Amino acid sequence: MSYQVLARKWRPRDFGSLVGQEHVVRALRHALEQKRLHHAYLFTGTRGVGKTTLARILAKCLNCETGITAQPCGKCSACLEIDGGRFVDLLEVDAATNTKVDEMRQLLETAQYAPTRGRFKVYVIDEVHMLSTSAFNAMLKTLEEPPEHMKFILATTDPQKIPVTVLSRCLQFNLKQMPPAAITAHLASILEQEKVGFEAEALPVIARAAGGSMRDALSLLDQAIAHGGGRLAASGVSEMLGAIDQGYLLRLLECIAGEDPAGAVSIADEMQARSLSFDAALADLASLLLRMALAQSVPGALEDYAERERIETLAGRLDPETVQLYYQIALQGREDLPLAPDEHAGFAMTVLRMLAFCPEGTERALPKVQSKTQKADTPKPKSAAGASDWPQLVQQLPVTGAARELARNAELQRRENGVFDLVVPRAKAYLAERNYVDKLKAALDQHLGTPVRVNVSVGEVSGATAASLEAGEREARRAEAVKAVQGDGFVQDLVNMFDAKVVDSTIREKGK
Ligand SMILES: Nc1ncnc2c1ncn2[C@@H]1O[C@H](COP(=O)(O)OP(=O)(O)OP(=O)(O)O)[C@@H](O)[C@H]1O
Ligand SMILES: [Mg+2]
Ligand SMILES: [Zn+2]
Repeated sequence: MSYQVLARKWRPRDFGSLVGQEHVVRALRHALEQKRLHHAYLFTGTRGVGKTTLARILAKCLNCETGITAQPCGKCSACLEIDGGRFVDLLEVDAATNTKVDEMRQLLETAQYAPTRGRFKVYVIDEVHMLSTSAFNAMLKTLEEPPEHMKFILATTDPQKIPVTVLSRCLQFNLKQMPPAAITAHLASILEQEKVGFEAEALPVIARAAGGSMRDALSLLDQAIAHGGGRLAASGVSEMLGAIDQGYLLRLLECIAGEDPAGAVSIADEMQARSLSFDAALADLASLLLRMALAQSVPGALEDYAERERIETLAGRLDPETVQLYYQIALQGREDLPLAPDEHAGFAMTVLRMLAFCPEGTERALPKVQSKTQKADTPKPKSAAGASDWPQLVQQLPVTGAARELARNAELQRRENGVFDLVVPRAKAYLAERNYVDKLKAALDQHLGTPVRVNVSVGEVSGATAASLEAGEREARRAEAVKAVQGDGFVQDLVNMFDAKVVDSTIREKGK
């Protein structure tokens, strides 16, 4: 038996086996059950998300011999012939190759004859945006007064190119891109049914590379199975895709956030040893930074993302301006890569550049020791424990990751009878996630040796957070360092002799 590619073999044959697109399925089921049928449907969406698949399912729903139904039987000759692509009353046209008006006219002429076998003559016009203007006009006439027995199903990746006169006569459904988690789950279920062994970590790598297209995911899966000789290992898949293990880049960003140039450079060396593509690495680094920016501004944006917690932790450690700046540096570094002595040097330089710069104004924008005065007019917590110094408590808490960032960025509003009321600023709202709050609560329980309750709200903070105190202290130390550098005799000589300039923002305290 010849091998059938997975994307074709696993084309869903009914609404139930379609992944995602629930909003579309619900509306179509409803319409079919109520027998409230429109004469023209338009499915829009990017490649491989189910447009053609849905068109065929709908054609079966309309023509199944058991009657118009949301659950075609799959056994009658109409269903079988539609699945086999040989049903006479289903006319599938690829507009990309039949753009001309004559072809459209010919096709539409057949519309006046009653269906041969089915209830309806169904015209599926794929890539409909490719039709010429005159072909659209020819179609419009039929769309305006369609014969009773005729149904149009149009599909396109590019609805902008369809004339409004056509759009307004269709019931339009926008199909969504497949989220990586849904792709991963679908691939796993197919592999199980195909009895192909796989490492679970291999699937998210494919899902990410598929860019939201289920068809692309299945094609990559085909390739990966062939590449792995019938088995799917994460390392083999990454190798095949030339994908950079996210782990490298996350560790790299952790070094950058922790101001650890030696660590960062050694990761670049490791990547070199594995002959990973530095161009791809910079592209991936930029998309990782984009995810961090999203995490900072859109709570819940990373819902489906595998490395969510690590990214959110990083997002909590850097301010939004810095993430923006790193993003720019990554893009610029990619552009400069062909000019660098070699790719490794270009990559290492880009990383060092991230470590060398801070965006203008961020340091000044950081709250200074102001928190001391602020604290004076905050009402003193009534707790007997004297535990009023939240930032100090945070330092001692046995908590890591995003929950630690939550603690560091939160301000204690009130602590009463074992209840901690915390506030985080809007920009850190994503840290107020249930899961992180629970971890923080557990750490407090453990540290204080008694169960507490933790409420986190989003709102204004005055600056009494561990994060801003640390930043204030860092800034004070840096200011000292700046003073020391400026007062240094050798530096002054350089300035005088060579008309040099000290760039204050590049001065760091020793050991950092
Ligand atoms: N929502 C989905 N659920 C499950 N499988 C899907 C889904 N969407 C696509 N697929 C898989 O991808 C293959 C191609 O899907 P389909 O032909 O419906 O894509 P399309 O949206 O029409 O794409 P194109 O714009 O490239 O024509 C299907 O055979 C199926 O295996
Ligand atoms: Mg299609
Ligand atoms: Zn049937």
